[in-house]
Amino acid sequence: MATPAFSERNLIHMQNLNVGLIGGGFMGKAHSLAYAAMPMFFWPAPALPVRKVIAEATTELAAEAARRFGFENSTSDWRSIIDDPDIHVVDIATPNHLHAEIAIAAAEAGKHIICEKPLARTGEESKAMYDAVKDKNLVHMVAFNYRRTPAVALAKKYIEEGAIGRILSFRGTYLQDWSADPNAPLSWRFQKSIAGSGALGDIATHVIDMARYLVGEFSAVNAVLSTWIPERPLQAGGADALGTVRGGEGPRGQVDVDDEVMTMIRFANGAVGSVEATRNAHGRNNHITFEIHGTEGSIVFNYERRDELQVCFASDQADRRGFRTVYTGPAHPYGEGLWPIPALGIGYGETKIIEAYDFFKAIAEGGSVSPNFADGYQVALIDDAIVESAAKESWVEVPQITA
Ligand SMILES: NC(=O)c1ccc[n+]([C@@H]2O[C@H](COP(=O)([O-])OP(=O)(O)OC[C@H]3O[C@@H](n4cnc5c(N)ncnc54)[C@H](O)[C@@H]3O)[C@@H](O)[C@H]2O)c1
Repeated sequence: MATPAFSERNLIHMQNLNVGLIGGGFMGKAHSLAYAAMPMFFWPAPALPVRKVIAEATTELAAEAARRFGFENSTSDWRSIIDDPDIHVVDIATPNHLHAEIAIAAAEAGKHIICEKPLARTGEESKAMYDAVKDKNLVHMVAFNYRRTPAVALAKKYIEEGAIGRILSFRGTYLQDWSADPNAPLSWRFQKSIAGSGALGDIATHVIDMARYLVGEFSAVNAVLSTWIPERPLQAGGADALGTVRGGEGPRGQVDVDDEVMTMIRFANGAVGSVEATRNAHGRNNHITFEIHGTEGSIVFNYERRDELQVCFASDQADRRGFRTVYTGPAHPYGEGLWPIPALGIGYGETKIIEAYDFFKAIAEGGSVSPNFADGYQVALIDDAIVESAAKESWVEVPQITA
């Protein structure tokens, strides 16, 4: 009998993998969409995610989340997901203080794990998570999805091919304005005991992840952390409305995390750089940018124009040298699964769909995926070094994890 064609083989072996999703807020929505849509984009799919059970903080919230996000069952006890032998994948989309406890329990139960960023509140907690997964036969991933924007993956390809030569510098920003209003409530994102840090862990980590992905390891940082709004109206738990709800005149509580971070960077390969992140920049909504200069050219990316990569090559004929715009499409990373012509529009949802594709591909193939818990732990060590540097007002070396 002839060997079946690739797609036929894939169809025969395509597994159903049962997902238990913990946390039905902003990220619960994004991940549920990705599980439903991944096989519609990437077909044959590496595996079929089955939305089996979703956990929320209460029975009512869990039941509502199951109806809304298409899960078969719901629970208010995330531990029942860990104990369920039919669950293959545990997805952690809760606030940061629960990541370590859930991930360590899931690793001990032998589940594949995708965990939202930041991996945990501190380097120490992240290390415990990494130690729990590192010698186990399971796939682990940390959800730094912005590196899966096709234009960012294309920047990586150009750099690996040497198109801009040796990298000299990286300048990255993540600027938002949802917390600029002093009456945006004291949600979990402003509480160190839950979030670990403020703009640093919440948004700077995405740019730090892209800097490591595109340039390499950080060797030292020199940072400033600022808290612009020290008190906010109290919020009684629940999902973070990201500034869309205003607090009243009632009691206010203390913000004990940073609103803004700026750091200079020395990379291990000799390049230099900077990362800036704030949630208080009026007029900036999701302004993720980077500009990379190499010996042979430059690359510029702006997430608010995420179908585009601006590139400039020193080898171009002198009278036409300058930035050109490449619109991502079928010729570019992940193009085979996305839309059939360039510039139709990549959205936040697509980055999560691609993330789900790479995660399930690693499970189906018995491989690994990046960024994983080792990457999440290394980013947490960078965050810790940034906090230490800001306190000492000096350069701090970043420790490197050993495998
Ligand atoms: N990758 C990204 O772009 C991105 C974007 C936003 C948030 N995040 C990360 O995702 C995680 C969740 O953030 P979010 O924006 O979805 O927060 P959110 O506040 O919108 O949602 C969190 C949900 O977790 C639920 N929850 C709390 N305790 C729970 C428990 N014990 N069991 C089950 N559910 C529980 C809450 O009720 C809430 O609905 C955080 O780690 C955050 O840093 C990542």
